[in-house]
Amino acid sequence: MQVSMDLTQFLQQLDELTANAVSTFEAAPDQEALEQARIEFLGAKKGQLKATQKLFGAVGKEDRPTAGQRFNETKQAIEAALEQAQQRLQAGNDSGSQENQQFDPTLPGEALQLGHLHPITQTIEELKDIMGRLGFSVADGPEIEDVWHNFEALNIPAAHPARDPIDNFYLGVAAAGTAKKSNELLLRSQTSTVQIRVMENTEPPIRIISLGRVYRPDTADATHYPMFHQMEGLLVDHQVTMADLKSVLRLFASSYLGEDVHIRFRPSFFPFTEPSVEVDYLWNDQWIEFGGAGMVDPNVLTAVGYDPSQVNGFAFGLGVERLCMRRHGITDIREFYKNDIRFLHQF
Ligand code: PHE
Repeated sequence: MQVSMDLTQFLQQLDELTANAVSTFEAAPDQEALEQARIEFLGAKKGQLKATQKLFGAVGKEDRPTAGQRFNETKQAIEAALEQAQQRLQAGNDSGSQENQQFDPTLPGEALQLGHLHPITQTIEELKDIMGRLGFSVADGPEIEDVWHNFEALNIPAAHPARDPIDNFYLGVAAAGTAKKSNELLLRSQTSTVQIRVMENTEPPIRIISLGRVYRPDTADATHYPMFHQMEGLLVDHQVTMADLKSVLRLFASSYLGEDVHIRFRPSFFPFTEPSVEVDYLWNDQWIEFGGAGMVDPNVLTAVGYDPSQVNGFAFGLGVERLCMRRHGITDIREFYKNDIRFLHQF
Protein backbone atom coordinates (compact mmCIF):
# COMPACT_ATOMS: atom_id res chain seq x y z
CA MET A 1 0.00 0.00 0.00
CA GLN A 2 1.34 3.38 -0.94
CA VAL A 3 1.11 5.95 1.81
CA SER A 4 1.14 9.50 0.66
CA MET A 5 3.44 11.86 2.51
CA ASP A 6 4.09 15.55 2.26
CA LEU A 7 7.53 17.02 1.83
CA THR A 8 7.68 18.48 5.34
CA GLN A 9 7.15 15.07 6.90
CA PHE A 10 9.79 13.49 4.68
CA LEU A 11 12.33 16.17 5.51
CA GLN A 12 11.58 15.82 9.19
CA GLN A 13 12.28 12.09 8.91
CA LEU A 14 15.59 12.85 7.27
CA ASP A 15 16.57 15.28 10.05
CA GLU A 16 15.66 12.79 12.75
CA LEU A 17 17.61 10.09 10.98
CA THR A 18 20.69 12.32 10.74
CA ALA A 19 20.50 13.32 14.39
CA ASN A 20 20.05 9.70 15.48
CA ALA A 21 22.88 8.39 13.36
CA VAL A 22 25.30 11.12 14.41
CA SER A 23 24.64 10.66 18.12
CA THR A 24 24.86 6.87 17.85
CA PHE A 25 28.16 7.03 15.97
CA GLU A 26 29.52 9.52 18.46
CA ALA A 27 28.55 7.34 21.37
CA ALA A 28 30.05 4.13 19.95
CA PRO A 29 32.68 3.02 22.53
CA ASP A 30 34.64 0.74 20.22
CA GLN A 31 34.99 -0.52 16.65
CA GLU A 32 32.51 -3.29 17.16
CA ALA A 33 29.74 -0.98 18.37
CA LEU A 34 30.48 1.41 15.54
CA GLU A 35 30.16 -1.39 13.01
CA GLN A 36 26.78 -2.31 14.51
CA ALA A 37 25.69 1.32 14.22
CA ARG A 38 26.91 1.47 10.63
CA ILE A 39 24.80 -1.54 9.70
CA GLU A 40 21.81 -0.08 11.47
CA PHE A 41 21.92 3.23 9.64
CA LEU A 42 23.81 2.61 6.41
CA GLY A 43 23.22 -1.13 5.88
CA ALA A 44 22.50 -1.75 2.21
CA LYS A 45 19.46 -3.94 2.84
CA LYS A 46 17.93 -3.12 6.20
CA GLY A 47 19.59 0.12 7.11
CA GLN A 48 17.42 3.02 8.27
CA LEU A 49 18.64 5.19 5.44
CA LYS A 50 17.51 2.55 2.99
CA ALA A 51 14.10 2.43 4.71
CA THR A 52 13.75 6.19 4.45
CA GLN A 53 14.67 6.04 0.79
CA LYS A 54 11.66 3.82 0.25
CA LEU A 55 9.40 6.61 1.53
CA PHE A 56 10.64 8.73 -1.32
CA GLY A 57 8.05 7.23 -3.62
CA ALA A 58 5.29 8.57 -1.34
CA VAL A 59 6.34 12.19 -1.78
CA GLY A 60 4.38 14.18 -4.33
CA LYS A 61 5.93 14.40 -7.81
CA GLU A 62 6.48 18.17 -7.68
CA ASP A 63 8.40 17.81 -4.38
CA ARG A 64 10.68 15.04 -5.51
CA PRO A 65 13.63 17.17 -6.73
CA THR A 66 13.84 18.87 -3.32
CA ALA A 67 13.32 15.59 -1.49
CA GLY A 68 16.01 13.87 -3.60
CA GLN A 69 18.53 16.61 -2.98
CA ARG A 70 17.91 16.58 0.77
CA PHE A 71 18.10 12.79 0.83
CA ASN A 72 21.56 12.91 -0.77
CA GLU A 73 22.71 15.53 1.73
CA THR A 74 21.48 13.34 4.57
CA LYS A 75 23.38 10.36 3.24
CA GLN A 76 26.58 12.40 2.98
CA ALA A 77 26.15 13.80 6.49
CA ILE A 78 25.69 10.31 7.99
CA GLU A 79 28.66 8.91 6.10
CA ALA A 80 30.81 11.83 7.25
CA ALA A 81 29.75 11.23 10.86
CA LEU A 82 30.71 7.57 10.50
CA GLU A 83 34.14 8.45 9.21
CA GLN A 84 34.69 10.91 12.03
CA ALA A 85 33.76 8.26 14.57
CA GLN A 86 36.17 5.81 12.94
CA GLN A 87 38.98 8.34 13.16
CA ARG A 88 38.16 9.04 16.78
CA LEU A 89 38.40 5.36 17.70
CA GLN A 90 41.61 4.95 15.67
CA ALA A 91 43.29 7.89 17.36
CA GLY A 92 42.14 6.59 20.74
CA ASN A 93 43.82 3.27 19.98
CA ASP A 94 47.11 4.90 19.11
CA SER A 95 47.38 7.06 22.17
CA GLY A 96 45.77 4.60 24.51
CA SER A 97 48.12 1.75 23.66
CA GLN A 98 51.06 3.02 25.68
CA GLU A 99 49.04 3.69 28.76
CA ASN A 100 47.49 0.29 28.52
CA GLN A 101 50.82 -1.47 28.22
CA GLN A 102 52.12 -2.54 31.56
CA PHE A 103 55.80 -2.30 32.19
CA ASP A 104 57.19 -5.76 32.88
CA PRO A 105 60.51 -5.49 34.72
CA THR A 106 61.16 -9.22 34.36
CA LEU A 107 61.51 -9.05 30.57
CA PRO A 108 65.10 -9.31 29.31
CA GLY A 109 66.58 -5.97 28.28
CA GLU A 110 67.54 -5.02 24.75
CA ALA A 111 71.23 -5.69 24.27
CA LEU A 112 73.23 -2.67 23.18
CA GLN A 113 75.10 -3.27 19.96
CA LEU A 114 78.71 -2.34 20.41
CA GLY A 115 80.75 -1.28 17.44
CA HIS A 116 84.16 -2.72 16.72
CA LEU A 117 87.17 -2.12 14.52
CA HIS A 118 86.80 -2.52 10.77
CA PRO A 119 88.26 -5.84 9.52
CA ILE A 120 90.98 -3.98 7.61
CA THR A 121 91.94 -2.05 10.74
CA GLN A 122 92.01 -5.31 12.69
CA THR A 123 94.23 -6.84 10.01
CA ILE A 124 96.57 -3.86 10.08
CA GLU A 125 96.86 -4.12 13.84
CA GLU A 126 97.70 -7.81 13.58
CA LEU A 127 100.27 -7.27 10.83
CA LYS A 128 101.96 -4.59 12.92
CA ASP A 129 102.04 -7.01 15.79
CA ILE A 130 103.60 -9.84 13.78
CA MET A 131 106.18 -7.61 12.11
CA GLY A 132 106.90 -5.97 15.43
CA ARG A 133 107.96 -9.33 16.79
CA LEU A 134 110.37 -9.58 13.82
CA GLY A 135 111.92 -6.27 14.86
CA PHE A 136 110.16 -3.94 12.41
CA SER A 137 108.84 -0.65 13.69
CA VAL A 138 106.04 1.33 12.09
CA ALA A 139 106.61 4.36 9.88
CA ASP A 140 104.01 6.63 8.33
CA GLY A 141 103.80 8.79 5.26
CA PRO A 142 101.27 11.12 3.66
CA GLU A 143 98.59 9.91 1.27
CA ILE A 144 99.00 13.03 -0.84
CA GLU A 145 102.48 12.67 -2.25
CA ASP A 146 104.79 14.47 -4.63
CA VAL A 147 106.19 12.76 -7.70
CA TRP A 148 109.67 12.70 -6.18
CA HIS A 149 108.64 10.28 -3.44
CA ASN A 150 106.10 8.35 -5.49
CA PHE A 151 108.27 7.95 -8.61
CA GLU A 152 111.57 9.74 -9.11
CA ALA A 153 113.46 8.68 -6.01
CA LEU A 154 112.10 5.18 -6.63
CA ASN A 155 113.94 5.07 -9.94
CA ILE A 156 110.78 5.59 -11.99
CA PRO A 157 111.76 8.20 -14.58
CA ALA A 158 109.39 10.71 -16.18
CA ALA A 159 108.75 8.64 -19.29
CA HIS A 160 107.91 5.48 -17.34
CA PRO A 161 104.42 4.08 -18.07
CA ALA A 162 103.71 3.74 -14.32
CA ARG A 163 103.48 7.55 -14.24
CA ASP A 164 100.73 7.67 -16.85
CA PRO A 165 97.78 9.89 -15.80
CA ILE A 166 95.51 6.99 -16.72
CA ASP A 167 97.03 4.95 -13.90
CA ASN A 168 97.26 7.62 -11.21
CA PHE A 169 95.15 10.15 -9.38
CA TYR A 170 97.06 13.33 -10.08
CA LEU A 171 96.01 16.36 -8.12
CA GLY A 172 96.55 19.52 -10.04
CA VAL A 173 96.54 20.60 -13.64
CA ALA A 174 99.69 19.41 -15.35
CA ALA A 175 99.51 16.04 -17.08
CA ALA A 176 102.06 13.64 -15.68
CA GLY A 177 103.46 12.58 -19.03
CA THR A 178 104.80 16.08 -19.61
CA ALA A 179 105.43 17.30 -16.08
CA LYS A 180 108.92 16.77 -14.74
CA LYS A 181 108.69 18.95 -11.69
CA SER A 182 108.71 17.04 -8.45
CA ASN A 183 106.32 19.45 -6.75
CA GLU A 184 103.43 17.95 -8.63
CA LEU A 185 101.06 16.10 -6.30
CA LEU A 186 99.10 12.87 -6.54
CA LEU A 187 97.36 10.37 -4.30
CA ARG A 188 100.15 7.90 -3.65
CA SER A 189 99.89 4.78 -5.81
CA GLN A 190 102.09 2.69 -3.51
CA THR A 191 103.45 2.74 0.01
CA SER A 192 107.01 2.52 -1.35
CA THR A 193 106.94 6.31 -0.95
CA VAL A 194 107.52 5.77 2.74
CA GLN A 195 110.78 3.90 2.04
CA ILE A 196 112.14 7.12 0.56
CA ARG A 197 110.83 9.32 3.35
CA VAL A 198 112.36 7.09 6.02
CA MET A 199 115.74 6.73 4.29
CA GLU A 200 115.93 10.47 3.67
CA ASN A 201 115.65 11.08 7.39
CA THR A 202 117.37 8.08 8.96
CA GLU A 203 120.77 6.49 8.82
CA PRO A 204 120.97 2.69 8.44
CA PRO A 205 120.32 0.21 9.92
CA ILE A 206 116.63 0.52 9.06
CA ARG A 207 113.91 -1.97 9.73
CA ILE A 208 110.43 -0.54 9.16
CA ILE A 209 107.01 -1.38 7.88
CA SER A 210 104.41 1.11 6.72
CA LEU A 211 100.75 0.33 6.39
CA GLY A 212 98.27 2.56 4.68
CA ARG A 213 96.05 3.50 1.81
CA VAL A 214 97.09 3.66 -1.80
CA TYR A 215 95.05 4.86 -4.77
CA ARG A 216 94.81 3.69 -8.35
CA PRO A 217 92.05 4.50 -10.84
CA ASP A 218 90.93 0.89 -11.26
CA THR A 219 87.33 0.00 -11.95
CA ALA A 220 85.95 -1.72 -8.87
CA ASP A 221 85.31 -5.45 -9.23
CA ALA A 222 85.68 -8.49 -7.00
CA THR A 223 89.47 -8.09 -6.81
CA HIS A 224 90.03 -4.39 -7.55
CA TYR A 225 89.14 -1.20 -5.81
CA PRO A 226 90.39 2.33 -6.53
CA MET A 227 91.65 2.57 -2.95
CA PHE A 228 93.27 -0.27 -1.06
CA HIS A 229 95.91 -0.87 1.61
CA GLN A 230 99.48 -2.03 1.36
CA MET A 231 102.05 -3.15 3.85
CA GLU A 232 105.45 -1.92 2.85
CA GLY A 233 108.57 -3.39 4.43
CA LEU A 234 112.10 -2.05 4.26
CA LEU A 235 115.30 -3.36 5.76
CA VAL A 236 118.62 -1.63 5.12
CA ASP A 237 121.85 -2.81 6.70
CA HIS A 238 125.21 -4.33 5.77
CA GLN A 239 125.28 -7.46 3.61
CA VAL A 240 121.58 -8.12 3.47
CA THR A 241 120.64 -11.04 1.21
CA MET A 242 117.62 -12.45 -0.64
CA ALA A 243 117.67 -15.26 1.92
CA ASP A 244 116.97 -12.69 4.65
CA LEU A 245 114.06 -11.38 2.61
CA LYS A 246 112.64 -14.82 2.07
CA SER A 247 113.00 -15.76 5.73
CA VAL A 248 111.19 -12.65 6.89
CA LEU A 249 108.34 -13.15 4.42
CA ARG A 250 108.02 -16.83 5.24
CA LEU A 251 107.92 -16.15 8.97
CA PHE A 252 105.38 -13.44 8.37
CA ALA A 253 103.17 -15.68 6.20
CA SER A 254 103.30 -18.51 8.69
CA SER A 255 102.33 -16.22 11.53
CA TYR A 256 99.43 -14.66 9.72
CA LEU A 257 97.98 -17.55 7.76
CA GLY A 258 98.98 -20.58 9.84
CA GLU A 259 101.93 -22.85 10.37
CA ASP A 260 102.20 -24.69 7.08
CA VAL A 261 102.51 -21.82 4.62
CA HIS A 262 104.95 -22.25 1.75
CA ILE A 263 106.37 -19.31 -0.06
CA ARG A 264 107.63 -18.94 -3.63
CA PHE A 265 109.57 -16.19 -5.41
CA ARG A 266 109.02 -15.61 -9.13
CA PRO A 267 111.35 -13.34 -11.08
CA SER A 268 109.74 -9.97 -11.74
CA PHE A 269 110.58 -6.35 -12.31
CA PHE A 270 110.22 -3.22 -10.23
CA PRO A 271 112.24 -0.07 -10.99
CA PHE A 272 113.20 0.29 -7.32
CA THR A 273 114.42 -3.25 -6.64
CA GLU A 274 117.07 -5.37 -8.33
CA PRO A 275 116.61 -8.28 -8.48
CA SER A 276 112.81 -8.15 -8.13
CA VAL A 277 110.37 -10.94 -7.35
CA GLU A 278 106.67 -11.64 -7.06
CA VAL A 279 105.83 -13.29 -3.77
CA ASP A 280 103.38 -16.20 -3.79
CA TYR A 281 102.06 -18.16 -0.83
CA LEU A 282 100.81 -21.71 -1.10
CA TRP A 283 97.60 -21.81 0.82
CA ASN A 284 94.88 -24.45 0.63
CA ASP A 285 96.69 -26.04 -2.35
CA GLN A 286 96.70 -22.78 -4.29
CA TRP A 287 99.51 -20.41 -5.11
CA ILE A 288 98.30 -16.92 -4.28
CA GLU A 289 100.05 -13.75 -5.36
CA PHE A 290 100.57 -11.47 -2.42
CA GLY A 291 102.80 -8.72 -3.67
CA GLY A 292 106.22 -7.69 -4.85
CA ALA A 293 109.64 -7.61 -3.27
CA GLY A 294 113.33 -7.40 -4.04
CA MET A 295 116.72 -6.01 -3.11
CA VAL A 296 116.68 -2.21 -2.96
CA ASP A 297 118.07 -0.85 -6.24
CA PRO A 298 121.42 1.00 -5.82
CA ASN A 299 119.88 3.97 -7.66
CA VAL A 300 117.33 4.32 -4.86
CA LEU A 301 120.04 4.16 -2.20
CA THR A 302 121.93 6.86 -4.06
CA ALA A 303 118.79 9.02 -4.43
CA VAL A 304 118.42 9.18 -0.66
CA GLY A 305 122.09 9.88 -0.09
CA TYR A 306 123.30 6.43 0.93
CA ASP A 307 126.44 4.80 -0.39
CA PRO A 308 125.39 1.59 -2.19
CA SER A 309 128.88 0.16 -1.70
CA GLN A 310 128.44 0.38 2.06
CA VAL A 311 124.80 -0.58 2.67
CA ASN A 312 122.13 -2.59 0.96
CA GLY A 313 118.70 -3.89 1.79
CA PHE A 314 115.44 -5.47 0.79
CA ALA A 315 111.91 -4.14 0.39
CA PHE A 316 108.51 -5.67 -0.07
CA GLY A 317 104.94 -4.50 -0.64
CA LEU A 318 101.93 -6.70 0.14
CA GLY A 319 98.21 -6.10 -0.35
CA VAL A 320 96.43 -5.92 3.02
CA GLU A 321 92.94 -6.64 1.61
CA ARG A 322 94.23 -9.77 -0.10
CA LEU A 323 95.68 -11.08 3.13
CA CYS A 324 92.49 -10.40 5.04
CA MET A 325 90.33 -11.90 2.27
CA ARG A 326 92.44 -15.05 2.14
CA ARG A 327 92.37 -15.48 5.87
CA HIS A 328 88.60 -15.04 6.21
CA GLY A 329 87.44 -16.51 2.91
CA ILE A 330 86.10 -13.17 1.66
CA THR A 331 85.63 -13.30 -2.11
CA ASP A 332 84.78 -9.70 -2.99
CA ILE A 333 86.97 -6.75 -2.02
CA ARG A 334 84.01 -4.36 -2.41
CA GLU A 335 82.44 -5.83 0.72
CA PHE A 336 85.01 -3.98 2.83
CA TYR A 337 83.79 -0.59 1.66
CA LYS A 338 80.02 -0.96 1.49
CA ASN A 339 79.60 -0.25 5.20
CA ASP A 340 77.03 -3.02 5.41
CA ILE A 341 76.80 -3.73 9.11
CA ARG A 342 75.72 -7.35 8.44
CA PHE A 343 79.06 -7.98 6.73
CA LEU A 344 81.22 -6.00 9.15
CA HIS A 345 79.57 -7.60 12.14
CA GLN A 346 81.18 -10.96 11.34
CA PHE A 347 84.73 -9.92 12.16
N1 PHE B 1 105.30 -0.99 -4.66
C1 PHE B 1 105.08 -2.22 -5.36
C2 PHE B 1 103.63 -2.27 -5.84
O1 PHE B 1 102.84 -1.48 -5.43
C3 PHE B 1 105.35 -3.41 -4.48
C4 PHE B 1 106.78 -3.52 -4.05
C5 PHE B 1 107.23 -2.93 -2.91
C6 PHE B 1 107.70 -4.21 -4.82
C7 PHE B 1 108.56 -3.04 -2.51
C8 PHE B 1 109.00 -4.33 -4.47
C9 PHE B 1 109.43 -3.74 -3.30
O2 PHE B 1 103.27 -3.09 -6.62
